[in-house]
Amino acid sequence: MKAVRIHQFGGPETLQVEDLPMPQPGQGEVRIRVMAASVNPVDYKVRNGGYLPREALPLTLGRDVAGVIDAEGPGVEGLLVGEAVYAMLDRDHGGYVEYVTQPAACCAPKPAKLDFVQAAAVPLAGLTAWQGLFDHGGLESGQRVLIHGAAGGVGHFAVQFARVRGATVIATCSGRDADFVESLGASEVIDYHEERFEDRVQDVDLVFDLIGGETQERSWAVLKTGGIMVSTLKEPDQKKAEARYARGVHYMAHPDGQELAEIARLIDAGQMVPRIDRVYPLDAAAEAEAALENDHVRGKIVLEVAAPL
Ligand SMILES: NC(=O)c1ccc[n+]([C@@H]2O[C@H](COP(=O)([O-])OP(=O)(O)OC[C@H]3O[C@@H](n4cnc5c(N)ncnc54)[C@H](OP(=O)(O)O)[C@@H]3O)[C@@H](O)[C@H]2O)c1
Repeated sequence: MKAVRIHQFGGPETLQVEDLPMPQPGQGEVRIRVMAASVNPVDYKVRNGGYLPREALPLTLGRDVAGVIDAEGPGVEGLLVGEAVYAMLDRDHGGYVEYVTQPAACCAPKPAKLDFVQAAAVPLAGLTAWQGLFDHGGLESGQRVLIHGAAGGVGHFAVQFARVRGATVIATCSGRDADFVESLGASEVIDYHEERFEDRVQDVDLVFDLIGGETQERSWAVLKTGGIMVSTLKEPDQKKAEARYARGVHYMAHPDGQELAEIARLIDAGQMVPRIDRVYPLDAAAEAEAALENDHVRGKIVLEVAAPL
């Protein structure tokens, strides 16, 4: 089966299309015939040597798939061969492949409303948004949340989840994405190139930081006393948090089939939708990663795989 792999860290040119043996599902695992896989910043960050040691090489990139279960190991409950699923993969597996094995607990039935390309866009970014806002941020109806990076992969899900939860959403993004982010449910959109968000916003219950750096630092000024700052990128300064009787949390998103099933219910109820910016064939994974790393992307980039039977 075809897989896109790296044998050394570096630029997009390090991605190679290779032939690998068909993986076999173990205890509690399913094998997914991959129809589509999505691209996330973590993929180019790993490829650039940012996260893993050299000993991890060679490795297959990609953390999201949508496809059809074509085999099961012993002990799998609740998912059937032939069922369409989507999953955020665990760290031991890559998604730029034609077939992948995965613990059944990481998978959920694919939202019926979405095709495979749309479904593959959801898992990692959707779970990151869900876990950041709800599991770590405890966002509740009636609260005010500031979402930085609202037009990107994670941000465009976060705006929709927060709106569905009944929170008031204030969002930062580029001006050209303002209408898009507003259409997702943000009540106020701030163009980060043109305005300082701290001149417009005050007293938010939750800052959801998808940017880090000085954006995170400047966000203390808009957090209300007792609020919470949740970041996907950097541990917030605990001294600054304490000074505001606030909390600061950095977290890593993890696979969770149950949360993915809840997200699927929201999608099928018409309450949220992924936005696909561009679709590439699996063989063009290098081009897709370069686009996410260097271009302006609204929503998600997806690889169409459609593995042969
Ligand atoms: N810890 C975890 O588990 C975890 C999980 C997922 C993602 N992440 C990280 O979280 C970050 C966001 O992920 P993503 O998938 O959403 O990335 P993405 O799709 O690349 O989106 C990033 C967005 O941020 C916008 N942006 C850039 N600078 C900004 C600023 N100063 N203020 C407001 N918006 C700004 C970009 O807009 P323009 O193109 O217009 O500049 C883009 O829309 C990435 O760094 C990723 O590695 C971490």
